[in-house]
Amino acid sequence: PNPSILILPGDGIGPEVMTEVRKIIGWFGEKRDISFDVSEDLVGGAAYDKHGVPLADETMAKAQEADAVLLGAVGGPKYDDLDFSVKPERGLLRLRKEMDLYSNLRPAQCFDALADFSSLKKDIVAGLDIMIVRELTSGVYFGEPRGIFEEGNERVGINTQRYTESEIERAARSAFELAMRRGKKVCSMEKANVMESGILWREVVTRVAADYPEVELSHMYADNGAMQLVRAPKQFDVILTDNLFGDILSDCAAMLTGSLGMLPSASLGAPMENGRPKALYEPVHGSAPDITGQGKANPIACVLSFAMALRYSFDLGAEADRLEAAVEKVLADGVRTADLLASEGVSPVSTSEMGDAIVA
Ligand code: NAI
Ligand code: MG
Repeated sequence: PNPSILILPGDGIGPEVMTEVRKIIGWFGEKRDISFDVSEDLVGGAAYDKHGVPLADETMAKAQEADAVLLGAVGGPKYDDLDFSVKPERGLLRLRKEMDLYSNLRPAQCFDALADFSSLKKDIVAGLDIMIVRELTSGVYFGEPRGIFEEGNERVGINTQRYTESEIERAARSAFELAMRRGKKVCSMEKANVMESGILWREVVTRVAADYPEVELSHMYADNGAMQLVRAPKQFDVILTDNLFGDILSDCAAMLTGSLGMLPSASLGAPMENGRPKALYEPVHGSAPDITGQGKANPIACVLSFAMALRYSFDLGAEADRLEAAVEKVLADGVRTADLLASEGVSPVSTSEMGDAIVA
């Protein structure tokens, strides 16, 4: 049977950018004889409108079965006043939690044609290609005890940074596996100088590294890592870090490369019976209500998320390279959606025209 993809377009520009990915999936079937069983369902506000919940149980079950899930975006002003338990974001959180997607991959890649777009000097970012692996299901966002408690005559807010060896180990393995397919370097970032969880993190990562003798491991304190990311980001290949530091470092790395409309992501879990990891691919951006329905959305983040699916879920690395090269070519040719235009006087293409250009 063909590998299966569950598409969850979601809300706002989600369906708009997903339409372009569908064109590309169609192209692979037609021109490369690579076909997928694609099914589509609702998530976020769209699911709430129909089912009264942001992710129906039936959709959750389909996601568990699929070889890969591709998600657009969720949320929007229409849903801002909903009860917390049915907010669109809860649909996404449920997917991540029940699929146990513990490893979040955020590439920061600078296309030459967009190097001027970076917040940094061109020579610092031109040719940049790094990958941040963020542990996604544990750490200080989940550790107990947590809460706001009375303490004497005032209150205290408490969160707990907590990592088990096995949680660190599985995140580390996914970083080393990735490094084997890339530049064979892992830099692990924590704060072992002031945090016990950091000491354990460093110890476990070092132990895992012994299974990957070809990969060069280094360690860096996360605060220095933030500085180095902005000073000389090209020194890195794969950066491995925890949930909190990864949240911050990946947003920082994202801005090395320009527009939110360009950034893909993958969240991976344990291997399924067929050996493929459970996987959810999604652009980093949200539902962009300010441009919804205007044909202005940049589909590239979603297209590159599909390229990640080709590479990490379907072992089609060469096809992923082909798709990324198409994106690079289109950008080099000067094709730009509105978010990629720095100067007035050049007319932007629409979402659909960008998709067509990539297919062409
Ligand atoms: P956002 O990412 O939707 O938009 C931020 C800005 O970037 C906007 O000006 C938007 O027009 C622009 N932008 C985003 N994606 C773009 C694209 N592909 N092409 C061109 N321009 C693009 O973040 P915002 O405005 O904070 O949130 C809007 C809604 O999206 C909220 O309901 C929020 O909760 C939700 N959201 C959902 C996420 C998800 O589904 N993973 C992630 C972030 C926010
Ligand atoms: Mg963040």
